[in-house]
Amino acid sequence: MSPHTPASYLSGLFSLDGRVAVVTGGSSGIGRAIAEALALAGASVVVVARRESELDATVADLTALGGRAARVSADLTDRDAVCAAGDAAAEPFGEPDILVNAAGINLRPPLGDLTPDVWDTTMAVNLDAPFLLSQRYGPGMAERGYGRLIHITSQQAYRAFVSSGAYGVSKAALAALARSQAEAWSPQGVTANTLVPGFVMTPLNQRIQSDPALAESLAARTLIGRNGLAEDFAGAAVFLASPASAYVTGQALFVDGGFSTH
Ligand SMILES: NC(=O)c1ccc[n+]([C@@H]2O[C@H](COP(=O)([O-])OP(=O)(O)OC[C@H]3O[C@@H](n4cnc5c(N)ncnc54)[C@H](OP(=O)(O)O)[C@@H]3O)[C@@H](O)[C@H]2O)c1
Repeated sequence: MSPHTPASYLSGLFSLDGRVAVVTGGSSGIGRAIAEALALAGASVVVVARRESELDATVADLTALGGRAARVSADLTDRDAVCAAGDAAAEPFGEPDILVNAAGINLRPPLGDLTPDVWDTTMAVNLDAPFLLSQRYGPGMAERGYGRLIHITSQQAYRAFVSSGAYGVSKAALAALARSQAEAWSPQGVTANTLVPGFVMTPLNQRIQSDPALAESLAARTLIGRNGLAEDFAGAAVFLASPASAYVTGQALFVDGGFSTH
């Protein structure tokens, strides 16, 4: 007879009870949906972003759902602020076991108009902040023998798409960072992987959504036949954060309705 009930079996694979997660960009879109999923799976979650009102609303929502949540307001374009946020986010519930880097910006000037300022800001939020936060938490995770580094990249890490400019470069580098981290820390139980969205209906790409014909043409390029929703990332994020993914590292998991294979 099996020592497991279905519930205890699933909980052994996927439960995040007793785990602490930090989710940058956890107050909006994909990061918000991931923060909620991790909280519902049992993790205590700290969300990090700039706008206080969105952070407060997220903490209130996660708490109302029965989760444990806290927030840190920080501007991730600033290296000192990233480091301070890394320390502050470890205060409410202790050192994190899971880091999700979902905060990201996509400024889309045509390449000829791409200034060094736009380049620097893009790299700061999309690449430097994930690097610095991982440096802050990764060694501790390795020492404790369990860690999950999850970075949200983009199809533009792999192909040009709508003025990829600095954004595509930052996301390609983030995919490479995950591989470097996987190489360094996987022997100590710290995995590093990326989630790769296609086109997801979030505030980030309001401009494209306001053109229904364009949004529809993008949906037609998927295999599923619709554009992504933030909640499409819930299951994949819980998997990558959980014991179930212990032997999955250095990988890119495309959550894009088949966009990339069509
Ligand atoms: N939506 C898509 O189709 C799509 C496709 C491919 C990849 N992605 C990636 O998925 C991730 C999430 O995107 P999303 O669509 O969910 O975007 P979103 O709804 O615009 O959310 C972005 C989050 O990042 C935070 N953020 C932005 N700049 C920040 C800064 N300087 N400091 C701290 N926090 C900052 C925002 O909060 P504040 O503004 O309050 O700071 C917000 O919480 C991003 O990395 C994005 O590149 C999205």
